[in-house]
Amino acid sequence: MQNTDERIVRNIIESLSVGLMVISPSGVIVMHNAALCTILDIPAMTLSSASWAELFIEDVDRNTDFNQVILDVIEKRAVEMRHIVVYENTGGKRRRLCITSSFLQEGEELVAIVFLIEDVTDKYEMLEKENDYLRKIQGLQSERIEGLNKLAMSMAHQIRNPLMSIGGSSNFLLKNLSLDQRERDLFDSIIQGAHRLESIVQAARSFASILEPQQQEVPLANILKMSCEKANVFSVDHGRSVAWDMPSIDLQLQVDPDLFEKALSALLFNSIEFNAKNEVAISISAMEQDGETLISVTDLGIGISSEDIPYVFDPFYSTKPDGVGMGLTVARRIVTEHRGQLTLTSVAGKGTTATIIIPCSYSNSNLCSLP
Ligand SMILES: Nc1ncnc2c1ncn2[C@@H]1O[C@H](COP(=O)(O)OP(=O)(O)OP(=O)(O)O)[C@@H](O)[C@H]1O
Ligand SMILES: [Mg+2]
Repeated sequence: MQNTDERIVRNIIESLSVGLMVISPSGVIVMHNAALCTILDIPAMTLSSASWAELFIEDVDRNTDFNQVILDVIEKRAVEMRHIVVYENTGGKRRRLCITSSFLQEGEELVAIVFLIEDVTDKYEMLEKENDYLRKIQGLQSERIEGLNKLAMSMAHQIRNPLMSIGGSSNFLLKNLSLDQRERDLFDSIIQGAHRLESIVQAARSFASILEPQQQEVPLANILKMSCEKANVFSVDHGRSVAWDMPSIDLQLQVDPDLFEKALSALLFNSIEFNAKNEVAISISAMEQDGETLISVTDLGIGISSEDIPYVFDPFYSTKPDGVGMGLTVARRIVTEHRGQLTLTSVAGKGTTATIIIPCSYSNSNLCSLP
């Protein structure tokens, strides 16, 4: 019966595609399977008769990392950790091996150390190819964005000069010609049109000149303080005041403070402008959840109808008669540049909530989890 059990276990071990190596406390390799011989490119005979020290320590020059992992497991008992190391076989072929280890114990006594060694070269190479591909796409995307920004900047520049001369000349003629009321109205509308075009050009320039965020660790409270101060000035300019509802916020952000303040200010300006009351109630909240920071700005303003909601982030979409309609476009671009999301939920006549979600830390996510 014992023999049958042993045979079954042996068969299972031999059919594993992962290399198995069991070392006794005295350092002898007491068990290994065929996969181990293939992966390490060491004949079964050598493995059976050798101690781990002879095999792995004496071969100091070739596989330092691999040897060190084995040594750490045996000497420092660094088990249950996944290590991925480069291993060069006798023919000089380099493979990536994933080593996992564990101890076999009987009560307090150490009976054996078990190593599982997997050849992950193919997976690693696939991941590398995928990463190369992603890097290329990211490169192309930023080239495209850079190209579009340059185009917008130069168009804005080209439009600006004739625009200045249209506005300036119309102003001059309006002041110096003797005109009847109808002619004056026509000149006024040319001047107003030139002003409007000027603000559109200005908005396009500032959108195109948003630079890549220079991120740093900043207290969210500091950014909010700057935005709220700006919003207070903005509200006074619009003959309004703000009643703030903001608990003390003790969160750090990994952001470009100037850009992020600009995005938050755009949301606050909207809460002030799109409000029927002169005393505008705005509440701000922030929390961390599942590795992300959520910041919400809520107002009890006029709200947005469900038909209009899909368009609010579009460039130059505005329901203000003289609005440029770039506030939310710029805010969303800034948040997206921080790898975040900006969304708006609203009920017409009740109010609006803008929510920013950004990663808690902007440490570049590991494109490649293998070394
Ligand atoms: N808090 C809000 N309450 C109600 N409507 C809003 C709110 N925020 C945005 N909107 C709607 O979304 C539109 C687009 O907003 P956005 O900030 O992009 O442009 P704008 O405020 O009209 O102009 P600009 O910000 O360029 O001065 C607004 O015109 C308005 O209709
Ligand atoms: Mg706005």
